[in-house]
Amino acid sequence: MASNTHNQVAEKAYQKLLTCSWQNDLKKGINFDLPGETKLSVRWMEEKDVSEVVKIEKEIFPFPWLKEGFLYRLGELDFNVSLVGFIQNKLVAYTVSYIVYDELHFDNLAVKKNFRNNKIGEILLWLSLQTGNEKKCLWSFLEVRKGNTQAIQLYKKFGFEKLGVRKKYYREENEDALLMSKCILVKD
Ligand SMILES: CC(C)(COP(=O)(O)OP(=O)(O)OC[C@H]1O[C@@H](n2cnc3c(N)ncnc32)[C@H](O)[C@@H]1OP(=O)(O)O)[C@@H](O)C(=O)NCCC(=O)NCCS
Repeated sequence: MASNTHNQVAEKAYQKLLTCSWQNDLKKGINFDLPGETKLSVRWMEEKDVSEVVKIEKEIFPFPWLKEGFLYRLGELDFNVSLVGFIQNKLVAYTVSYIVYDELHFDNLAVKKNFRNNKIGEILLWLSLQTGNEKKCLWSFLEVRKGNTQAIQLYKKFGFEKLGVRKKYYREENEDALLMSKCILVKD
């Protein structure tokens, strides 16, 4: 593949997800073409990934999740949706969400700095929403720092809307969170 524009990358990723049996394929990893000749492989997060995930978490967030937080979320696969993305076998991105009743709640989404703006966040978000859809979720919710423009733009692009503000939700940083939600359509 010579070179993909950003929109072609997203379009091809979506086409792929429509045609593969992705829930199963996520066990071994699904490959996506990114801009240039880069390939992203996404699979369910496993225990062996957690130390690398925590490393990235520490690079990005001032008050990072600890190893135990990620391990806890790997416990019950019916309710937890944790994914990791690899480029050339190097873990570069992850997301964590969980299902409660008919709700998919996003807890974490991060892409390593040097790998951003390549549609990786978009692909992980989309896969998680599809999983919620498969599991009959009606809604998706998330909190995002009020000043986190990149993430807010990403969520808006996926149809998330602002429901309200949670004052000082990020207590350590004294920062408000936007509560955002999106309706997930169920097939039947
Ligand atoms: C938010 C984050 C996950 C986005 O990941 P990414 O792989 O760089 O994003 P993508 O390349 O998939 O971009 C998809 C969309 O996100 C939005 N976006 C991404 N980067 C952006 C930026 N710098 N400015 C504005 N919008 C941006 C755009 O809507 C973009 O769509 P477009 O390319 O059609 O404009 C990444 O910036 C990150 O890890 N940030 C730090 C951790 C974080 O804030 N996580 C969210 C916690 S709620």
